[in-house]
Amino acid sequence: MGAQNPRFSEPLREDFPLESVERPFVRASLRFATPDDLDAIVALEEAFPVRERWSRDAWFHELEADNRWVQVAECPGASGILGVITVQIIGGVADLNRIIVAPEMRGHGVGAELLRAGIEDANSAEADEMLLEVRHDNRAAHALYARAGFTEIARRTDYYGTGVDAVVLRLELAEEDDDDENQ
Ligand SMILES: CC(C)(COP(=O)(O)OP(=O)(O)OC[C@H]1O[C@@H](n2cnc3c(N)ncnc32)[C@H](O)[C@@H]1OP(=O)(O)O)[C@@H](O)C(=O)NCCC(=O)NCCS
Repeated sequence: MGAQNPRFSEPLREDFPLESVERPFVRASLRFATPDDLDAIVALEEAFPVRERWSRDAWFHELEADNRWVQVAECPGASGILGVITVQIIGGVADLNRIIVAPEMRGHGVGAELLRAGIEDANSAEADEMLLEVRHDNRAAHALYARAGFTEIARRTDYYGTGVDAVVLRLELAEEDDDDENQ
């Protein structure tokens, strides 16, 4: 998907926890999205192939729904948003519905910061687990999720088309204080 980011030529690293993420090169500030962010969020969808994009309506409903936690990342002093995450909470399950970082801003820690915020939101909502679905060949996303501690629990063969599987990942959420450096 998209051009190769020169920062990531090394193999995937799946063995270190979210807490060890270096401070990002871009210090994004995060906040909850408002309806005024709709245009900017929809513009982020242009990074996806057309058939994989979420529509404006889909994002509109995401921003309106009571059980969605949508956060955007901004760079202080700059206009526009760098990325977005939306998490849906139903009962004890938090579904990570979407996370996107603007292509030119990838590799600077923004995705990790957004994911950290989404996990915090899920913990605030007292969810027990976070689930998500990702294409098997989405290397960047798999690396991001593995760093956060997600593990594969299911695979749906050809879900996105012939030869493109969906992988279901799960993260068990904290039941105790978040100072869990030993995990
Ligand atoms: C997946 C995505 C959100 C990651 O955002 P990002 O801001 O580039 O990620 P970060 O810079 O925070 O990287 C976090 C970690 O993920 C890993 N990672 C991210 N992109 C990677 C890549 N292309 N190759 C290898 N590892 C990668 C790295 O281990 C990185 O840790 P490091 O800083 O120690 O190197 C971004 O690539 C994106 O928006 N992709 C398109 C949308 C998408 O596919 N979303 C997921 C499915 S809906």
